[in-house]
Amino acid sequence: MEYETVDLDEESGSVLILDQTKLPGKAEMIKLRTAKEIWDAIYLLKVRGAPAIGVAAAFGIYVLARRTAQKETDFDSFYNSFKKQKEYLDSARPTAVNLSWALNRMDQVCRQAHAEGKSVAQIVDRLGREAREIKEEDIRVCRAIGENGLSLLKPGDGILTHCNAGQLATCRYGTATAPIYLGQERGYHFHVFADETRPLLQGARLTAYELYSSGVDVTLICDNMSAMVMKNGWVNAVFVGCDRVAANGDTANKIGTSVVATVAKRYGVPFYVCAPTSTIDLDTPAGNEIKIEQRPGREVTEMWYKEPMAPQGIKVFNPAFDVTDHELITAIITEHGIARAPFWKSLAEMKNVTV
Ligand code: MRU
Repeated sequence: MEYETVDLDEESGSVLILDQTKLPGKAEMIKLRTAKEIWDAIYLLKVRGAPAIGVAAAFGIYVLARRTAQKETDFDSFYNSFKKQKEYLDSARPTAVNLSWALNRMDQVCRQAHAEGKSVAQIVDRLGREAREIKEEDIRVCRAIGENGLSLLKPGDGILTHCNAGQLATCRYGTATAPIYLGQERGYHFHVFADETRPLLQGARLTAYELYSSGVDVTLICDNMSAMVMKNGWVNAVFVGCDRVAANGDTANKIGTSVVATVAKRYGVPFYVCAPTSTIDLDTPAGNEIKIEQRPGREVTEMWYKEPMAPQGIKVFNPAFDVTDHELITAIITEHGIARAPFWKSLAEMKNVTV
């Protein structure tokens, strides 16, 4: 894919994103300048996927800080605005931990630079460097996840994935798709099944689009077909991404992931979660404490079609994510290695690796 998912336009002081709500029909880069534009882009899934949300928020708080610094040159008033903007951006989506992780990291840089006696202008420079580093780090992390994931696969394997944990959800390679892209470069000839992923069709609109345009052998299936393809023996492994992994390994990812994991268990197919360590949240002990984002019912009843798809006024339940119990997960693949049960131990070890 030739587009950047998230980037920084230094000249205009804006965040550049590929508007994912327009895909696969149109690849359009848009500029986000104000806090409201950045918040809306995250909430409306113009930029989505846990790592990409984190990078967009880091660039976002940087461009906002840069503008604040033009008016506020004393640290206290600058930091007051910074904190308010940080809290505002953080409220856009609650489940993907990378949003608060990236904003907290930017906050820490801000406070550290102040403690070292830096001026507001110097603090802003440091924030810019940190945001760019978060993006570069994401690329390195995804590649390392790809290498670790690829070690679990063999040429010709069938792989099933749910939602989009691809290049569009990150800055390159994706997480769940990273082993697929690296395998593609090395002639592994994988056969990928992409769940369409209702209600917003990230699998059909995004995963199928990016894999297909990269020449990967990908077959699109409806969400209710995963049991059949697994029963037929066409799937050697399931690879999915995640939005937050609790300390015990319970994993929040796109709604429907736990159904896929349950079916995989039934048919003896290994179920792998690809997780940058930034998505592991050791402060959340178990999955029942992960806040699940509820989204408007109209995403189920009328999105993507001009005509209503359900009776008007119907009650709708529309959680954006579900939690897969750690017992259903074969392994969690991070940039530092492959974590296996007991996850409370292996995840803590992965999180503590220093590089
Ligand atoms: O609602 P979305 O499209 O942001 O949901 C995305 C997912 O659930 C992804 O699988 C997850 O964020 C991992 S992305 C590497």
